Amino acid sequence: MRTIAVLNYKGGVGKTTFTISVSQALAMAGFRVLAIDNDSQHHLSFVAEKGEQLRPTCIRDVYRSSVGIAGKKLLDAIVETKLRNFHIIPSHAELSGHDIKDPYILQKAMEYCSLHRFYDYILIDNSPGLDILQETALRAADEIFVPTELSYFAVNGIIELHRVIEKRFRDCCSITKIIPNAYRGTNRQNEYLDALSALYRDKITETHIPYDTVFDTCMKEQKTLFVHKLFSKAAAHYLKLIHELFDLDEGRVWEQVCDVKQTQLRNEARQRFYEQQKRASQGAELEENKKLKQHLMSQVHLEDMPFVGNRE
Ligand SMILES: Nc1ncnc2c1ncn2[C@@H]1O[C@H](COP(=O)(O)OP(=O)(O)OP(=O)(O)O)[C@@H](O)[C@H]1O
Ligand SMILES: [Mg+2]
Repeated sequence: MRTIAVLNYKGGVGKTTFTISVSQALAMAGFRVLAIDNDSQHHLSFVAEKGEQLRPTCIRDVYRSSVGIAGKKLLDAIVETKLRNFHIIPSHAELSGHDIKDPYILQKAMEYCSLHRFYDYILIDNSPGLDILQETALRAADEIFVPTELSYFAVNGIIELHRVIEKRFRDCCSITKIIPNAYRGTNRQNEYLDALSALYRDKITETHIPYDTVFDTCMKEQKTLFVHKLFSKAAAHYLKLIHELFDLDEGRVWEQVCDVKQTQLRNEARQRFYEQQKRASQGAELEENKKLKQHLMSQVHLEDMPFVGNRE
């Protein structure tokens, strides 16, 4: 099992989009994947099977538990997504650093319930910054992936992030990969890319995720990138990235993803059909009831009934 914290000081650089896309691609390629939402914005939680709604157990309950029961809470909090093999642990709007008494709680909970037996990959999506909330993720992770924009603040943020991690977290994990996101190939972006390459040459992925509005569309319409928009440039680049990050055979991954896409579309079509049938039969039932009621009413002579109607 590989546990990866997805982290960046800067907000809005594509951490959640990266976590969702990589998890979905790995799951479609046949791996068992768990994504943990460690952000009070709980955007990752939107991919849960039953949509975004308050759930009885979430990551906050794990943090607020004693070590003895945190493992059980972690298992209780797991929910399914539309994809087989891809599970998530949702977050809570009120999640904050105050919920955490022990920054090792997630690591201990994962060990306690032997999570490594159930999953091949665990990705932890974080809110921007680096305080106790992110520290808890880092203590549980083996490595850090940093999706980033190519802008002045983003590059400065990575230098800062790298410095802090080397200083405070050298004992647990380090930045393994930096993934340029929303790449448009402008001169300005290329300048920042050169600057990053000069500093962290072996960590920058060769695959740059292009700017593509399809990510927003997928979230808005609750679609899966590799099922509904497989032939977008965003999906193609993510599959290339999977090959690069996890050393997987790209051709084989494409085949597996295409197979799952067909099955998924068939299942969704079947589901739609059943729902339509159900709605139609409910409609027919209502119509029947209405007719029956009209018929009964036509048989009743109000004046024959003792307490109904005007008897004056
Ligand atoms: N490659 C891309 N091209 C175009 N839009 C993108 C790309 N990646 C992400 N986005 C969009 O950018 C916005 C921010 O992305 P996302 O929520 O993944 O960032 P984040 O780093 O998780 O943000 P936060 O720090 O608030 O958690 C979203 O609307 C998303 O759809
Ligand atoms: Mg996010």
